[in-house]
Amino acid sequence: MKISIILGTRPEIIKLSPIIHECKKLNLDLFILHTGQHYSFDMDRVFFQQLELPLPNYNLNVGSGSHAEQTAKILIGVEKILHKEKPDIVLVEGDTNTVLAGALAAVKLHIKIGHVESGLRSYDYTMPEEINRILTDHCSDILFAPTNNSKQNLRYENIQANKIFITGNTIVDAVFKYKKIAAKKSNILKDLGVCHKEYFLVTVHRQENTDDINRLKRILKGLTQLHKKYNIPIVYPVHPRTQKKMKEFALTSERIKLVKPVDFFSFLQLEEHSRIVLTDSGGVQEETCILGTPCVTLRDNTERPETLRVGSNILAGTNPEKILDCVSIMDEKNKKWTNPYGSGDAGKKIVTIIKKVV
Ligand code: UD1
Ligand code: UDP
Repeated sequence: MKISIILGTRPEIIKLSPIIHECKKLNLDLFILHTGQHYSFDMDRVFFQQLELPLPNYNLNVGSGSHAEQTAKILIGVEKILHKEKPDIVLVEGDTNTVLAGALAAVKLHIKIGHVESGLRSYDYTMPEEINRILTDHCSDILFAPTNNSKQNLRYENIQANKIFITGNTIVDAVFKYKKIAAKKSNILKDLGVCHKEYFLVTVHRQENTDDINRLKRILKGLTQLHKKYNIPIVYPVHPRTQKKMKEFALTSERIKLVKPVDFFSFLQLEEHSRIVLTDSGGVQEETCILGTPCVTLRDNTERPETLRVGSNILAGTNPEKILDCVSIMDEKNKKWTNPYGSGDAGKKIVTIIKKVV
């Protein structure tokens, strides 16, 4: 059996790492196809190095562009390689343009698709990720749902039950594996001059928040007010998309420590020790839930409702007062909850299923 792993962005590299490691351990025939959707060192190569992943066998170097341009370039590039390599299964993870284009190229060539982190739904059809998720789920042969909730979302869309496997989320595998190593290897708290539970960590990169100047302004205003109220540092590793938009809109804030995106070990450390994390990232909502750090989500909806249910996360949107209220609620509440994303063996489960089904 020949497996093709298609990836292209930071979260895909991190979340597919447990599967790649498991395949390597079992000596399975595998090749990695990187689309090049992310390409800056600190959004891409740093994770291959740190997670000790084999370098991609192919890199399409598609880079940035409009949705149509990026998706089309990936489709064309992936098709050529799949034609040549003829894998038995293509694995994609998540909801990016890389995922949609990888799945579309494969399905037209009658190659089986396994969708890792399947069945997530925000029911917000203005999000590019929601369209990518739905279309990918509907052309996949094996759907690896992280939770029963995600399986139910797929069942509501009439996807056959025998194609769906609840596996947990591979991010739990990665967090469990690297949490202690991160504590030993990263000096990020010291480097940034911040202390345990005496700072807030922020990430913002979602299209809806960055491309709309009013939403981005409101978020920055909320963060400035947060700093005034609590008088502790706000650490914000800025995603390149947001950096570009802040420059274009001439937005900044002297009260926020703006830094470049950090490596995975440093980010895990920052998440674990932060008093509260404010974010619009999907992966960060999950990681904070796993690590026991409260999360305030700077969105109006989430495809990770499990985090709301267990109480690790709250939806704030972008209204500055609401952001402050949500921080205060999360600050005061009981910080003990159960991680709904599995016990850290999702990668193993997924590879076992592939070996059986393909
Ligand atoms: C993409 C995904 C999003 C995911 C995010 C993870 C889609 C539609 N969006 O969003 O779901 O949450 O990745 O981080 O697939 N840029 C760089 N260097 C890079 C990559 C991007 O400078 O290595 C800049 C470019 O200016 C680019 C912008 O960031 O135009 C956006 O990149 P893009 O890949 O289009 O989308 P993301 O916002 O990264
Ligand atoms: N991350 C990182 N460095 C950073 C910010 C995030 O290593 O500076 C990691 C984080 O631990 C998580 C993933 O990147 O595993 C989340 O990616 P992102 O927020 O870009 O995408 P999303 O999960 O929203 O698709």
